Amino acid sequence: MKDPSLRRSVTLFRAFLRERQEPERCYALLARDAADQVERYGSVDGKVVVDVGGGAGYFTEEFRRRGAQAFLFEPDLRELGARGEKPPEGAVVADGYLLPVATGAADVTFSSNVLEHVADPQTFLSELVRITRPGGLIYVAFTNWLSPWGGHEWAPWHYLGAERARARHERRTGTPAKHQLGVNLFAHHIGPTLRQVRARDDVTVVSARSRYWPFLAETVAKVPGVREFTTWNLLLILRRCP
Ligand SMILES: C[S@@+](CC[C@H](N)C(=O)[O-])C[C@H]1O[C@@H](n2cnc3c(N)ncnc32)[C@H](O)[C@@H]1O
Repeated sequence: MKDPSLRRSVTLFRAFLRERQEPERCYALLARDAADQVERYGSVDGKVVVDVGGGAGYFTEEFRRRGAQAFLFEPDLRELGARGEKPPEGAVVADGYLLPVATGAADVTFSSNVLEHVADPQTFLSELVRITRPGGLIYVAFTNWLSPWGGHEWAPWHYLGAERARARHERRTGTPAKHQLGVNLFAHHIGPTLRQVRARDDVTVVSARSRYWPFLAETVAKVPGVREFTTWNLLLILRRCP
């Protein structure tokens, strides 16, 4: 599937709608898609790829399939074991704020849908930058708060307030919501994130675009205000400065 293309976006969206019923299919597809996005900037074959907050390891496995030496770092044991089988070999329980990885060790540092789950995105990003070698690539994608999916399992009701949306979800499903604003989900916005990343002198922004949009992917991420609602998920491709 070509990125971006309408066919790709529709396929991803359909898989996402069936995420609960068919998680394997959904995440395997997403992992292939993300790896394709990384490989637009060069093959990962033989490269060191560090997957931070990689959950059950779908992305790590996809990078390994493509010949990378991929390493999974994930702080939550429940996420690591979410597939009910062993996580990828060598998986490390570690927090993205403080990775047990040498400075400059990674050719590619990869983080998919983690930034909205950390309270301090700049410190998290600094750690990703630290472990990336000069000239290396950093892939960071996250769902911003005002995205239609910003409230995760209680979306789109987060537009009416996080607590109300969460309570509604619990009433409707009879189960506790996985996410709580300010605890494991944070209201990060595109504008401030882009300004902070552009102000850094240790990375250059190669691309800032919607991760899933089939067209105008860079344009939708450019229009202040509007982009907070239309981008869905911001993909940042950064290059570590020499
Ligand atoms: C929505 S899941 C994303 C999993 C996978 N990367 C993906 O795209 O499907 C968010 C992940 O971020 C992890 N996470 C939360 N806080 C983190 C932190 N401080 N450092 C690293 N990972 C973190 C969670 O444990 C969880 O596995």
